[in-house]
Amino acid sequence: MKTSRVARRRRYLLCEPRHFDVRYAINPWMRVDGGVDRALALAQWTRLADTYRELGHTVDTVEPVPGLPDMVFAANGAVTLGGRVLGARFHAEERRPEAAAFQAWFKAAGFDVHMPETVSEGEGDLVPAGRWVLAGTGFRTTLTAHHEAQELLGVPTVGLRLTDPYFYHLDTALFALDDENVCYYPGAFSPGSREVLRGLFPDALLATREDALAFGLNSVSDGRHVVVAPQAEGLVEQLSAHGYVPVPVDLSELHKAGGGIKCCTQEVRSA
Ligand code: ARG
Repeated sequence: MKTSRVARRRRYLLCEPRHFDVRYAINPWMRVDGGVDRALALAQWTRLADTYRELGHTVDTVEPVPGLPDMVFAANGAVTLGGRVLGARFHAEERRPEAAAFQAWFKAAGFDVHMPETVSEGEGDLVPAGRWVLAGTGFRTTLTAHHEAQELLGVPTVGLRLTDPYFYHLDTALFALDDENVCYYPGAFSPGSREVLRGLFPDALLATREDALAFGLNSVSDGRHVVVAPQAEGLVEQLSAHGYVPVPVDLSELHKAGGGIKCCTQEVRSA
């Protein structure tokens, strides 16, 4: 086992939860009658942005649009690799207008944006991991979108089937630790997809259902530091034992919409 992990500087795109709310239910976490504490959401999100800056990363923000309460989940707005951007096409009607807002940000930042033909929820389901883009399907992003991502990004996509509605996006069940390894919760995947993951990543860190339900797999790693939900206690310990540095950030208020750290974070990968 490697004991000294190396961080790489990253560029992250975030969206302030200024209009955050739970007003519709498009995943099993969302309760429309639950109510959210927006001030708390804002404070927790600010801590996340500050943490990234303290770790030496660049944080960009896209202006939140009134009436789009889920726009804080910036990971869904696109996926980028080598300076190429695949925009988003959202499954739920309520989120569809977000696509144009993210597209506009990328255009203004100097990127060409390719818009997908079918449902494709950005980094929520398309997770660059070393030589592959791991691509989730089953609830949101389509198999056709996996192919579109492969054509645009020029990197093989590996389709993975999600089977548990609580883990409706790939990034709720798996994250890339670095260019060589990943961490995931096997119970979120179909038997065949589990076998594929075992084959590609024989040394992967495997998380429990408990840690997955605590949004532990919705983490962001720079190769050394892993920004992780403190509620995922077992995973936090496991990361330390493998030479990573867990950096706990609590986004409990965002969990009410079914999102955590990674959902709030779009990595902008330039050429
Ligand atoms: N309420 C949002 C939805 O259901 C949460 C999105 C979480 N994002 C993510 N990358 N998993 O679409």
